Amino acid sequence: MKNVTTSPAANLPLRPVWWDAAVQPHGALAIIDQTRLPAEQVQLRCGTLESVIHAIKTLQVRGAPAIGVAAAYGVVVGLNELPPSGESLSQSVRQICGRLAASRPTAVNLFHALERMRKRADQLQGRNWLEARDALLEEAHALRAEDAATCRGIGQAGRHLIQNGMGVLTHCNAGALAASEYGTALAVLYAAREAGRAFKVYADETRPLLQGARLTCWELLQAGVDTTLICDNMAATLMAQQRIHLVITGADRIAANGDAANKIGTYGLAVLAAAHGIPFYIAAPSSTFDLNLKDGTAIPIEHRDPAEVRTFRGQPIAPDAVACFNPAFDVTPARLITGLITEKGVIYPVTPQGIRRQLSR
Ligand code: MRU
Repeated sequence: MKNVTTSPAANLPLRPVWWDAAVQPHGALAIIDQTRLPAEQVQLRCGTLESVIHAIKTLQVRGAPAIGVAAAYGVVVGLNELPPSGESLSQSVRQICGRLAASRPTAVNLFHALERMRKRADQLQGRNWLEARDALLEEAHALRAEDAATCRGIGQAGRHLIQNGMGVLTHCNAGALAASEYGTALAVLYAAREAGRAFKVYADETRPLLQGARLTCWELLQAGVDTTLICDNMAATLMAQQRIHLVITGADRIAANGDAANKIGTYGLAVLAAAHGIPFYIAAPSSTFDLNLKDGTAIPIEHRDPAEVRTFRGQPIAPDAVACFNPAFDVTPARLITGLITEKGVIYPVTPQGIRRQLSR
């Protein structure tokens, strides 16, 4: 993995994941290393399958749509490591996808992206190896471009929900850093801003890995959005003071009934929002829906290293021996979600029928 430190201007517009064809001999996945933000802006080049898997597992690249795009490019990186005369293309792609699929379990965008690459590889079976690899790279480029367009669509679909003078609370990072560009929850805010609305954003810090403090605040400030950082335990107070008028987050997987998995703490915010009569929205692309799952109880939840809770940015904050609970995501029941903002429109109210109807449009 190669590091390149960039100036802030080099990151605009913000694109956290792309393909760098200039890396010899066959190109490489390029990402902004999100573990180093906001202190340092470092680009990484991942030229081996192992380095792509490492980047996903360690959250150097993170957020459901961005993980899907990185994995699609990861398939090409994996193929580049194999001798052209080896096993059949389909078999090789299946093996590479199997390894990528084991990186993080919750965001369904990863599995949708890998399935798309597997299907394309099956269509290319029998073609010249180099031609087939180039076609798979084109497929990954297409996925990335579609994701960027989808995020724009989410912004357009949801921007009417943000009115002048509102206080909007968001959790974790569902912005440009979490997708190809623009983001999901933050796409709605960017689109509202482009439409001339003036509002204030409150960003939860999002313990244990601080995606809200490190990433959302960094990205919103770069975009010139009025942003205030709060600790995760401050949301109820702001709501009681009537300073929050709407909550909006992203999602990692949404079941057929609308139950939605997102960063741990999202469910608590939805409960608080309901208790204060505040609308609670989730913004997500169609690729985040998993209609194979009837409800949220079947969504696989990633549990991460207890050391993430026991420490704060590498410093111990609890006895080494203490047990820690560290699920990366929780599931918000559909009944607590006012609406689901997708690129195809807002699903409101959230019902299995409404979801099926909207997604089939
Ligand atoms: O563990 P992370 O940082 O990958 O978690 C990210 C989130 O929970 C986001 O809210 C979600 O992926 C939506 S991103 C558009």
